[in-house]
Amino acid sequence: MSPSPLKGKGKKGIGLKKVNNLPIEWLGNRVKILDQTRLPQEEVYLELNDYQGIASAIREMKVRGAPAIGIAAAYGIALAALEIEAASRDDFLEKLRGISHSLASTRPTARNLFLAIDRMQQAAETSEDIEQIKAALVQEAVKIHTEEIEATKKLSQFGAELIGDGFTILTHCNTGALATAGYGTALGVIMQAKKQGKQIKVFATETRPLLQGARLTTWELMKANIPVTLITDSMAGYFMSRGEINCVIVGADRITLNGDAANKIGTYTLAVLAMENGIPFYVAAPTTSIDLSLNSGDEIPIEQRSQEEVTHIQGVSIAPDDIEAANPAFDVTPHYYITAIITERGIIKEPYIEKLKKITRSCENKKVS
Ligand code: MRU
Repeated sequence: MSPSPLKGKGKKGIGLKKVNNLPIEWLGNRVKILDQTRLPQEEVYLELNDYQGIASAIREMKVRGAPAIGIAAAYGIALAALEIEAASRDDFLEKLRGISHSLASTRPTARNLFLAIDRMQQAAETSEDIEQIKAALVQEAVKIHTEEIEATKKLSQFGAELIGDGFTILTHCNTGALATAGYGTALGVIMQAKKQGKQIKVFATETRPLLQGARLTTWELMKANIPVTLITDSMAGYFMSRGEINCVIVGADRITLNGDAANKIGTYTLAVLAMENGIPFYVAAPTTSIDLSLNSGDEIPIEQRSQEEVTHIQGVSIAPDDIEAANPAFDVTPHYYITAIITERGIIKEPYIEKLKKITRSCENKKVS
């Protein structure tokens, strides 16, 4: 998808203070995103001025990573609200619900998406008239973004305490500023450890099929001057068994009441390997990724993506024509493989249930769309 022409040009956008120069930026009547499918070869920014463009960007993973998806969807709803023409408040809210449903159908696994949409819906329903609803929605979207920035900053500070000087850390997928529109989760922890002056090295798994590790994590770490070695996903056990990895840190798309965590496909394999080799396995995530309405990881909806992402690499076929391929985008790591969960409200360890309840705000516990 190419950036749509700025149909909002000349139209007065509603804006608050500019959040930051990040991979997602609210520009008053449009949203600027860094197209992650073009990295690392090209840094291309798209300016999207309708929620359909945002929905496609999420589905096509131009914007990706659990917190970033939630933020993008919230801005998508704010954009849509500026455009809705409605005869009454009820009519406006009805149209908004349809838009929320369409954004909710983009990707099923990340908790942050549904929480952000639910927060936007609540902000609309508690405002009196249409103009107030529009202002409230822009304000809520910016708040969701600001809070995610703050949460990833805090969790990075907590998590960095677990990283020793001289550590080599293995990470999977991409969990940096790109994935969070903030400081990052697992990668935020790693960046903070470096800021503290620790000499660290990173092994980044390539993360088949879409290569978020090879394309994005290496790019972010190299920009931060952190030594990084790229490995294929299947090399992790080799390096762990040779004693070359001090800890594994990953992010999460959804964490359930018992502490099970869904994350990028291949995470579960790394957790099992880490336990086999006596290596700590940490999950770093903001509390917006915690879903207390689900008892265990068995209940997490796992996104199934197209076969073509497996049979092709960046458009080039690597398998026989007509081969059957499977493409679950996430897997679930059972809580007993997780040494600790790092959040902005502190680091927690087994048993998780009461601790997760304590650190997760009550408004986040309800079931969302
Ligand atoms: O399919 P993606 O690239 O959106 O998957 C991203 C991940 O699995 C991340 O590890 C997860 O969203 C947590 S990062 C903030």
